[in-house]
Amino acid sequence: MANLVTSFMLWLCLISYAYITIHAAPVWPRGRSTRFYDFKIQTMTVSKLCNSKQIVTVNNMFPGPVVYAQEGDRLIVKVTNESPYNATIHWHGVRQILSCWFDGPSYITQCPIQAGQSFTYEFTMVKQKGTFFWHAHVSWLRATVYGALVVYPKPGVPYPFKYPYEEHIVILGEYWLQDIVQLERQVLASGGGPPPASAYTINGHPGPNYNCSANDVYKIDVVPGKTYLLRLINAGLNMENFFAIANHRLTIVEADAEYTKPFTTDRVMLGPGQTINVLVTADQTIGKYSMAMGPYMSAQNVPFQNISAIAYFQYAGAVPNSLSLPARLPSFNDNLAVKTVMDGLRGLNTSDVPKEIDTNLFLTIGLNVNKCRSKTPQQNCQGLNNGTMSASMNNISFIKPTVSVLEAYYKGIEGYFTDNFPGAPFRFYDFVNGAPNNAPNDTSSMNGTRVKVLEYGTRVQLILQDTGTVFGLCIVTLISTNHGDSRDVTQKPIQSVHQENRMVVKLMRQHPQVGTRKHKGFEGGKEPFMLADEILWTRAAVAHDRESTLKHPSIEQDDHLACASQKLMEWGPEPLTKGDSTLM
Ligand SMILES: *[C@@H]1O[C@H](CO)[C@@H](O)[C@H](O)[C@H]1NC(C)=O
Ligand SMILES: *[C@@H]1O[C@H](CO)[C@@H](O)[C@H](O)[C@H]1NC(C)=O
Ligand SMILES: *[C@@H]1O[C@H](CO)[C@@H](O)[C@H](O)[C@H]1NC(C)=O
Ligand SMILES: *[C@@H]1O[C@H](CO)[C@@H](O)[C@H](O)[C@H]1NC(C)=O
Ligand SMILES: *[C@@H]1O[C@H](CO)[C@@H](O)[C@H](O)[C@H]1NC(C)=O
Ligand SMILES: *[C@@H]1O[C@H](CO)[C@@H](O)[C@H](O)[C@H]1NC(C)=O
Ligand SMILES: *[C@@H]1O[C@H](CO)[C@@H](O)[C@H](O)[C@H]1NC(C)=O
Ligand SMILES: *[C@@H]1O[C@H](CO)[C@@H](O)[C@H](O)[C@H]1NC(C)=O
Repeated sequence: MANLVTSFMLWLCLISYAYITIHAAPVWPRGRSTRFYDFKIQTMTVSKLCNSKQIVTVNNMFPGPVVYAQEGDRLIVKVTNESPYNATIHWHGVRQILSCWFDGPSYITQCPIQAGQSFTYEFTMVKQKGTFFWHAHVSWLRATVYGALVVYPKPGVPYPFKYPYEEHIVILGEYWLQDIVQLERQVLASGGGPPPASAYTINGHPGPNYNCSANDVYKIDVVPGKTYLLRLINAGLNMENFFAIANHRLTIVEADAEYTKPFTTDRVMLGPGQTINVLVTADQTIGKYSMAMGPYMSAQNVPFQNISAIAYFQYAGAVPNSLSLPARLPSFNDNLAVKTVMDGLRGLNTSDVPKEIDTNLFLTIGLNVNKCRSKTPQQNCQGLNNGTMSASMNNISFIKPTVSVLEAYYKGIEGYFTDNFPGAPFRFYDFVNGAPNNAPNDTSSMNGTRVKVLEYGTRVQLILQDTGTVFGLCIVTLISTNHGDSRDVTQKPIQSVHQENRMVVKLMRQHPQVGTRKHKGFEGGKEPFMLADEILWTRAAVAHDRESTLKHPSIEQDDHLACASQKLMEWGPEPLTKGDSTLM
């Protein structure tokens, strides 16, 4: 786990290269220096929870290697797929200014990297710094294929808080004993929701609450009196989670890679894909303290894992085998605990919100139950009311195309998507209380691969509204492959939109209380389910980005356009293969 102990010194030792390229178009953000990483997607055997099984990882590490950069740096990551599965890597939260080909969602910006192929990602951290992470973006492989992406400020630019003695990355995860690819297949075929994870994990370790896991526990050794920066990342698939340390307060200083006004709390809550940086001072009696990760589930009748993952926050001088002081987590449905923390977060700096808006998008997000069409309903229609579950935006469920949407757009290939994604729902109603909530006979959605095309530089206002059609919470990943003017635009990469909230995202640099929220008492559906976004997944905007569409990274080909027949080219400046700056 040494790789996760990210001291600043270690990072300073990283070699960075002055980078002169003959490939890059002049308009591309170049980056100060370039950092190369070599990712090998591999299967490895791990023993956890009294079971041994194969999982897919990067470079035989679980969690995978940490990618380090500085604001303004260029990252070049060669990904070689040595696993038998299709894979891509998504750089979660990175805005990909003028590099939309490298965002990573399979069939959206690229074809999957098939077994034996490689693909080189290349992008610049333009005006972005903080804690990010990367994960596989095909099926549910990201259950084990994930790692941190840490971007430091530019040289000489201090943190807006007291410099910590040390930094540690703390990745929260969900771990299944079943084969994850098979599990996904089964869940999709069932029409129902995903089963609870077999365990929660902290940096891959479930900790002593689980069987056979007394020694499978992550530990941070701390020096009394010192202050630590913890980079918390929720890499889980489905669950929102609380995190707390026994007897210690957490001061939030950054959320989703934007600084916040310091906010001190006993616990934090992270949705899948979210990151929070906290400062913790080792100011308690010398001892061993638990760090705990547990579930937040505000809906009723949803099965979820309710055993906490535990790690240790252990003082130098503590009796090695002493019991740890237990951390107190809020109860799983403590909405107030979440609201108190979330409402306390404020961006550090006031932001320049675009005053003029070119395009308004009103997006309802929700889960649907479609009528059973199967001849074997017992097997295939295990959703609510014996139907099949899907997710939708503006009532349209995403059908995965066989060629990436961006490539189809770029090459003008017809038949893979339609550019008629509606800028507003077809039907307005009281999304919180009204129909179709109370008309369970009308919970179905439409299918489609619809795209909203925006001119580069468009100022967009998004309004996100959970419909609560069958359930009051949805996780949405907003993907727009490019964001126009980075000075005005902040991508909030993943949002938990609760039924009672309407969230207005005026693309701006602020976190996270953007716009107005409409609070009402929580009224979860009767038998709600939460589906991973990969089950049926709706995506909207593909920005029209003239500059980067000029740089298509895969082989030019005219005839065989389906991903199946596509060979991905290894792409990027030569040579990439030395692995010299790859951090192990
Ligand atoms: C541990 O194993 C026992 C016996 O197999 C089982 O009853 C129990 O549910 C397991 N506990 C956990 C947390 O998995
Ligand atoms: C935890 O989940 C198990 C199985 O889903 C359930 O039997 C048990 O009552 C739950 N415990 C708590 C405290 O909710
Ligand atoms: C952000 O706010 C801090 C504290 O108020 C201030 O010191 C800093 O200069 C501000 N940064 C910018 C870019 O405005
Ligand atoms: C679902 O189907 C089962 C039979 O497979 C039936 O007994 C049950 O009543 C059905 N439930 C609903 C809500 O239609
Ligand atoms: C749902 O049921 C209500 C009341 O029975 C009926 O008025 C409505 O037309 C139905 N809607 C659909 C889409 O079937
Ligand atoms: C969603 O689409 C389905 C299928 O066309 C339709 O039956 C349903 O009424 C629509 N729901 C809403 C809220 O527009
Ligand atoms: C929508 O797509 C899903 C998944 O491909 C399929 O099961 C369902 O029948 C489709 N619904 C309609 C109305 O075509
Ligand atoms: C892998 O991707 C290719 C290209 O899209 C596709 O044809 C193939 O079915 C995929 N394989 C799996 C196992 O999903």
